[in-house]
Amino acid sequence: MTDNKIGSKAAPVLFENVSKVFGKNVVAVDNINLHVEAGKLVTLLGPSGCGKTTTLRMIAGLEMASSGKIMIGDRDVTKLPATDRDVSMVFQSYALFPHMSVLENVMYGLTFSGFAKDEARSRALHGLQLVGLKGFDNRLPSELSGGQQQRVAVARALVLEPQVLLFDEPLSNLDAKLRRQVREDIRAIQQDLGLTVVYVTHDQEEALAVSDEIVVMRNAAIAQMGTPRELYDAPNDRFVADFIGEANLLNCQIVSTDGDTATIEIEGYRQTLPRRGLTNGPATIAVRPSRLVIGSDDGIAATVAKATYVGVRMEYTLTGAFGQVFAVHDDVDAPLAPGTEITMGFAGKGPVLLPD
Ligand SMILES: Nc1ncnc2c1ncn2[C@@H]1O[C@H](COP(=O)(O)OP(=O)(O)OP(=O)(O)O)[C@@H](O)[C@H]1O
Ligand SMILES: [Mg+2]
Repeated sequence: MTDNKIGSKAAPVLFENVSKVFGKNVVAVDNINLHVEAGKLVTLLGPSGCGKTTTLRMIAGLEMASSGKIMIGDRDVTKLPATDRDVSMVFQSYALFPHMSVLENVMYGLTFSGFAKDEARSRALHGLQLVGLKGFDNRLPSELSGGQQQRVAVARALVLEPQVLLFDEPLSNLDAKLRRQVREDIRAIQQDLGLTVVYVTHDQEEALAVSDEIVVMRNAAIAQMGTPRELYDAPNDRFVADFIGEANLLNCQIVSTDGDTATIEIEGYRQTLPRRGLTNGPATIAVRPSRLVIGSDDGIAATVAKATYVGVRMEYTLTGAFGQVFAVHDDVDAPLAPGTEITMGFAGKGPVLLPD
């Protein structure tokens, strides 16, 4: 609970058939439909060049849509320039002014948009407190760690109390430990203040950790959107299965169906699972590395091809008539040696049929 106004203006974002074409034929965003609810954090996730930044910049008004309609709240902003939209953006390079103190950096946008100096100062101090940087006001950016600089950039965007806050790969300059901490900070502030955030990353773990909803993009279009769990547990196709967490893809036969379930068979091993609209015949399942059971009684014959100790777990490459899979196992004390013959099964909710 907070007693301030930051976040109270949080607004939904709507894209209707939005495209962006650069020059004559670079289609950066191809006819996407998107709804970001007010107060939610939605992540755009996808490989390099798939159109994430372009989508974000169209929300900010830094790029104009070539066609389609963009709404922020109940305002049609499609043709509005950036200065007329109530949006702030946190960039990958924090873009702090090096010669200004932390406080001056955070005050800058406030004075620029017409706040009196005292009011700007008190809002900036409040923003710094929100990001855990109380008492750092007089330092220069060069006297801060990377994570602290990033939080100054977050504070600077926050204090403008935008309808929508945009982040473009905000953690890519930080080391692994700091990345985890700052992403948790961003998520906590967003939830605390009820901010509408659109967040771009190409790191699937980061997306799973911070998001209410993830939009997976591929080649300028939306491949699938849903909650982190929906995407992880029920990807629609190979691309999404592989992009969100690692997945083993295996060929199987659907040998029977009954209502909403199907029974699949791989080399005599059978399992019943949600049918996802499929009928009898060849199909593909995706299985997460942690959901492969090594040494199940009636499993599929496999050989340990590679065994790697990574501290918290063992990682195995298993081969067999089905091809090759990647498995992880918690038992680090009694690892299986390469060459060991084993049987492999699937955990209860392990495999998922891919409708595509
Ligand atoms: N100003 C521009 N002029 C021409 N083409 C552009 C421009 N900006 C982006 N593109 C092209 O549009 C496509 C999408 O670019 P975008 O920057 O949105 O990708 P991205 O998903 O953010 O990638 P990354 O993860 O590498 O940042 C790319 O093919 C890119 O080359
Ligand atoms: Mg980008």
